[in-house]
Amino acid sequence: MLNKQKKIGILTSGGDAPGMNAAIRAVVRTSEYFGYKTIGFKKGYDGLINGDLTEMNARTVAETIHRGGTILLTARSPELLIEAGQKKAANIYNALGLEALIVIGGDGSLRGANALSKFGVNTIGIPGTIDLDLGFTDYTIGFDTAVNTAMEAINKIRDTSSSHERCSVVEVMGRNAGHIAIWCAIAGGAEEVIIPEKTDIVNEDVINQVLVNRSKGKTHNLIVVAEGIGGSVELAKQIEEVTGITSRATILGYLQRGGSPTAVDRMHASQMGFKAVELIKNDKKNRVIAYRKGEYIDYDIEEALSIKGDFDIGLYDILKILAV
Ligand code: F6P
Repeated sequence: MLNKQKKIGILTSGGDAPGMNAAIRAVVRTSEYFGYKTIGFKKGYDGLINGDLTEMNARTVAETIHRGGTILLTARSPELLIEAGQKKAANIYNALGLEALIVIGGDGSLRGANALSKFGVNTIGIPGTIDLDLGFTDYTIGFDTAVNTAMEAINKIRDTSSSHERCSVVEVMGRNAGHIAIWCAIAGGAEEVIIPEKTDIVNEDVINQVLVNRSKGKTHNLIVVAEGIGGSVELAKQIEEVTGITSRATILGYLQRGGSPTAVDRMHASQMGFKAVELIKNDKKNRVIAYRKGEYIDYDIEEALSIKGDFDIGLYDILKILAV
């Protein structure tokens, strides 16, 4: 009887994001509710290619909703980029008799899912990345936690920097997108943000702004830099050389990817995990969950990956108006 039970595979891939565990938990428990068995693949697509798997059930995902990282482990799999790796993965999928494979991850991971769909793997994607850089969805699991973590770090940097009347340059993650940076800049009360979506800001302007701010009586300046632009250490050096104001750069790095997910991330992850299994139950193939205008919807995975994202550049103007 048990081996006749329908099975769903699940993996997390690419950079981990807080809330991935909440999504896994939701998938496993919804699967159980609808009568499916869940097979978890370890270390992203590598686990699928090498048959490194674990059977999951409601108890194996207990005590995980509050944990950062991913209990399934994750990796960026070079083997999945080549056809031979994709065929191996499809063979394992077929040998296990899976109904579908749920992939939780960012752009590269969902492109991997799309590639597998060409070999008959029914892939269902859940957007999970701190970067919020997937054009088809207004939310990606992990963003809220990452922004809050970075903002708390910025608050602490502000304490010490303002005590010393220094200029702080803080570099945040986000790959080629400035979403984390602009949110941290506005929420952290920054004077300036340097993001890939706004290319007309040169270091000279930033330095002049620091001088203008000083003349207005501001003793502390906070500049947030997106990693997609980088160069925060050089910028801090330049500011100090030109203005004489002591300047320090801090690259926040991987601390932004860890930590217990916020309620926002747990809620999105729980609902997206539920919806992913619901799609499988409704015989949908090769879809990806999206959050659009306050609703969860689904797209064909290939179509989703071709959707270009909007960046709300109006946020930059708001930042500048508030940074007086
Ligand atoms: O996509 C999440 C992310 O943390 C990006 O912000 C960053 O550019 C990248 O992953 C870092 O990747 P890795 O963990 O491979 O160094």
